[in-house]
Amino acid sequence: MKNRLVVVGTQWGDEGKGKITDYYACNADVVVRYQGGNNAGHTITFDGQRFALQSIPSGIFKPNIKNVMANGMVVNPVSVVSELEALENRGIKDYKLYISNRAAMVMPYHSVLDGAMEAMKGGKLIGTTKKGIGPTYADKYDRIGLRMGDLLDPEYFAMRLRDALTEKNMILRMLGMEEMTFDAIYTQYMALADRLGKYICDTSVLINEEIAKGSKVLFEGAQGVMLCIDHGTYPYVTSSSPTAASVPQNTGIAPRYIDNVLGVCKAYTTRVGEGPFPTELDGDIANYIRERGHEYGTVTGRPRRVGWLDLVVLNHARRVSGLDYLSLMLFDVLSGLDTVKICVAYELDGKRIDIMPSTIPQFQRCKPVYVELPGWKEDITDVKSFNELPEAAKNYIRKIEELTGIKVAVMSVGPDRLQTVTLHDIF
Ligand code: IMP
Repeated sequence: MKNRLVVVGTQWGDEGKGKITDYYACNADVVVRYQGGNNAGHTITFDGQRFALQSIPSGIFKPNIKNVMANGMVVNPVSVVSELEALENRGIKDYKLYISNRAAMVMPYHSVLDGAMEAMKGGKLIGTTKKGIGPTYADKYDRIGLRMGDLLDPEYFAMRLRDALTEKNMILRMLGMEEMTFDAIYTQYMALADRLGKYICDTSVLINEEIAKGSKVLFEGAQGVMLCIDHGTYPYVTSSSPTAASVPQNTGIAPRYIDNVLGVCKAYTTRVGEGPFPTELDGDIANYIRERGHEYGTVTGRPRRVGWLDLVVLNHARRVSGLDYLSLMLFDVLSGLDTVKICVAYELDGKRIDIMPSTIPQFQRCKPVYVELPGWKEDITDVKSFNELPEAAKNYIRKIEELTGIKVAVMSVGPDRLQTVTLHDIF
């Protein structure tokens, strides 16, 4: 059994990382969110209640777990406060939260500019969540961003805000949009500092101390490898890297501490926003899967695009993120289909390939090569072990293991915590 587990999405996000992180969180001492911000939507269901978290780590429901929002995140303090209020209103009051003083801070102009930049792209939308994620990361790398720790030093915060506003108001003027005033933002953010200040600290020190003590640490990714700024379907990606490789940099720990990586993978594929998607389906099967899987965005409510499982994508995620195990999610959704397909390669301009092309035009020309397997009709939502599955469902899992070389450690057969079947103990 290993002590540090990274949970990473292997597709285009929404694979069910929230549920699986919550499942393993029972054994964790620390849960760390390492990238992204409130563009993510992690849904967790237990005791008949459904919670949707955006930026708060999934261990928040357990009073003994230390929940860390690490330096690689972009933190929107307004969103954090409203998430905390929503949790507190539902009785989750006893929690431990730590926010990195080095995490980039989302400012009011970021979401305004996110929307404006998207609108300027005309027909070539990225389809962002308009939460200001891209503009906040851009400011971080442009070195004009503000960080969560700045909230603790009002004078420094004021100076950084004035500098940023000089630039942002110039851009807003150029776009013919309303400028933002220093006073309004300063007052709003100082009130947020009063509320959140007690959580802001050096989280790298905290995580390293926990590792030194032998604590069990769960690193929770948002989005998925295909939305990675480096390894995803650029430019139809988010602005951070969800891969396990990004964890050390995004949390301030040594790479050698990552000793186990779990790739979370839906039994099929979904995607929100624009960009190529070789196994995309439309018509009856797509509708069947979308309705059974409730495939509508947690953050934006948009219907998700739906397709068959794509092993070119999964093997890409395995390679760039180093997956030790898989967690197969929403497996019950596929029950009732006559046959199920798995994409094992692409055909690109008449040639069979099994790696993902790097450019969008090539990726768009890729035609999926499928293996087709018998489906199963049985309801599997009450299944408690691999052996209870219908033979066709077992074969579907075996095929994935055979074609990726990765063992399925856990599978999910329904939204509830209890509808989770362990095949191998990993954490
Ligand atoms: P952004 O992260 O808001 O900049 O959006 C960039 C792309 O990532 C868009 O296609 C979004 O739909 C997608 N995206 C961002 N976060 C998530 C997520 O948590 N799940 C699925 N897609 C996401």
